[in-house]
Amino acid sequence: MNMSKLTLPGLIDPHAHLRDPGQTYKEDFYTGTCAALAGGYTTLLDMPNNQTPITTLKRLNQKIKIAKQKIVCDVGFYFGSLGNNLNEFSKVQAKVLGLKLYLNETTGNFLIDKQELEKIFLSWRKKIILLHAEDNAVDHVIKLVKKLGNRVHFCHISTASDLKQIIKAKENNLPVSCGVTPHHLFLTENNVKKLGPFAKMKPPLRSKKDQEFLWKNLKYIDVVESDHAPHTIEEKGGDPTPFGVTGLETTLSLLLTAVSQKRLKIDDIVRLCCQRPKDIFGIKVDKQTYVEVNLNSKFLILNSKLLTKCGWSPFDGWMVRGRVERVFIRNRKVFENGKILVKRGFGKVL
Ligand code: DOR
Ligand code: ZN
Repeated sequence: MNMSKLTLPGLIDPHAHLRDPGQTYKEDFYTGTCAALAGGYTTLLDMPNNQTPITTLKRLNQKIKIAKQKIVCDVGFYFGSLGNNLNEFSKVQAKVLGLKLYLNETTGNFLIDKQELEKIFLSWRKKIILLHAEDNAVDHVIKLVKKLGNRVHFCHISTASDLKQIIKAKENNLPVSCGVTPHHLFLTENNVKKLGPFAKMKPPLRSKKDQEFLWKNLKYIDVVESDHAPHTIEEKGGDPTPFGVTGLETTLSLLLTAVSQKRLKIDDIVRLCCQRPKDIFGIKVDKQTYVEVNLNSKFLILNSKLLTKCGWSPFDGWMVRGRVERVFIRNRKVFENGKILVKRGFGKVL
């Protein structure tokens, strides 16, 4: 047996921004799902902060229709809210995997008032609520979960203090889960000087100490979520610089590199990128959907090799160890050695 070859279940990314419709010059359902396959993801969940936010059934249906024509891996969706669309909730519950709320400033005008939260929590009972929450917002949400019992997922936790609050909530058996991004695991504020705007994202890069806390407490973290948030190189060089970095094509190789450095186990990758996302978001997986990686293959991450439309990664120039060689979805070979082997529309909408 060749010990350098490994088969993993298809990865699930519960946090991507594919920008379609509205900003398809940054990314679209085809290029975004091609990037996903190249990174070993067979399912991804797309965020609702499109240029026109996905806050009505009509917009959600339009998005699903466009996706069906373009996707090459499986894609599920989240609904969005600013607190003024509660009457849409019952119409969309069955079509999405959760509701995403933004309690801190980020890309798009999608910030909601904390006062609105309680009525949203009361109206969205069945499926999970995902939160972009930092600092005080974490505490506020945990109090609401205690009061109302909603299941919540904290996206991209980046600081020791936020994770500490979540650990406490978990120890109190509250229905909370959390994710970290590859950029918060592999970059710190020390990288900002060199990367400039290409290290600008929300939440921002943190201190080495925060990063170490995340690694030390990996057992409390449920998922690694890419937060793939493409913007063009031109936009990133502009003023103001939009928040966000790409991640679909680099996350698995970065995690496999950490395995080769004994900072992580393969079982951790399976838990963080397959099992927990599947359980938390209620995704059915197919046994014939899997990824073949070569653990010994070393290569440079290079912007020029990426399939994401925006064509850059904050990890450009990094040497990694662990390459995605082949990807299968429902027993069909969909990706091999850098090439997409299926047509637009092969993927399924969850
Ligand atoms: O950096 C970010 N970019 N953080 C977010 O929360 C949103 C995302 C985007 O959509 O660009
Ligand atoms: Zn995001």
